[in-house]
Amino acid sequence: MTGTLQGKTALITGAGGGIGRATAIAMARAGANVVVTDMRDLADTVSGIEAEGSGAFAIPADVSDAASVDALFADLKRRSRKLDVLVHCAGVIHEVPSLDAHIQDFDRVIAVNLRGAFLVGREAIRQMLPHSSGRVVLLASDLSYEGRATFAAYVASKHAVLGLMRSWALEFAPSILVNAICPGPIDTEMLDAENMSEEWRQRELDIPLRRYGQPEEVAETAVFLAGPSAGFITGQGIGVNGGSVMA
Ligand SMILES: NC(=O)c1ccc[n+]([C@@H]2O[C@H](COP(=O)([O-])OP(=O)(O)OC[C@H]3O[C@@H](n4cnc5c(N)ncnc54)[C@H](O)[C@@H]3O)[C@@H](O)[C@H]2O)c1
Repeated sequence: MTGTLQGKTALITGAGGGIGRATAIAMARAGANVVVTDMRDLADTVSGIEAEGSGAFAIPADVSDAASVDALFADLKRRSRKLDVLVHCAGVIHEVPSLDAHIQDFDRVIAVNLRGAFLVGREAIRQMLPHSSGRVVLLASDLSYEGRATFAAYVASKHAVLGLMRSWALEFAPSILVNAICPGPIDTEMLDAENMSEEWRQRELDIPLRRYGQPEEVAETAVFLAGPSAGFITGQGIGVNGGSVMA
């Protein structure tokens, strides 16, 4: 197999579904060896990667838990030659009027979306630095740029992910390139009725391109940011959003 990521090893979090699964498969198609992690079952993702003719292994982990992330990277170090790419897709959303929110729900969103990005990103960079190269891609959101009533914790976490990305882009330049993808509404479980009210599911379509994006459309941007054509890009939030935000 040949591709822009031939010989590279990519770690994809949140790879059990949605954008993470599509990204893992797209990375494999581009020739990467793919390591996938999630809290949920990864068998379907691993078969999708193998169908591309690429190797894959799965390591379960909770990105919000420091011990779990340490175990993930210890396992990765034992099994893999060298980590070249991280795409951090694990995330959760929670819709609730702020005055009714339980603080535990606020904490969980921040723990997965922000603490998880810090824990996983930092360990990935620690493994990349000795080789003086690496690509880190964090999943932020179009809600990294604007507010949304009843999604305060999610919006705050995604604003913070951009701050983290920009800080790391400075701190680890020129060796490690750090960027974010800021999707608009993407057709994944995150937009399912259990996660979002019907009102917001409809309002999400009120964007210039008038449709939900597909996870594969985000995945291709991750492959681009991980590849040789993106060698002069760092510290950027790349919108894949159907025009929902023009930042
Ligand atoms: N779908 C959208 O419209 C949209 C829009 C903007 C940003 N995003 C972001 O893109 C990323 C991927 O979202 P998605 O749409 O694929 O959602 P998804 O719900 O389909 O997938 C998220 C994955 O993260 C995993 N996960 C959740 N908590 C975890 C934890 N503590 N440890 C490990 N894994 C965990 C889930 O098991 C799931 O497989 C998220 O960061 C999300 O905030 C999504």
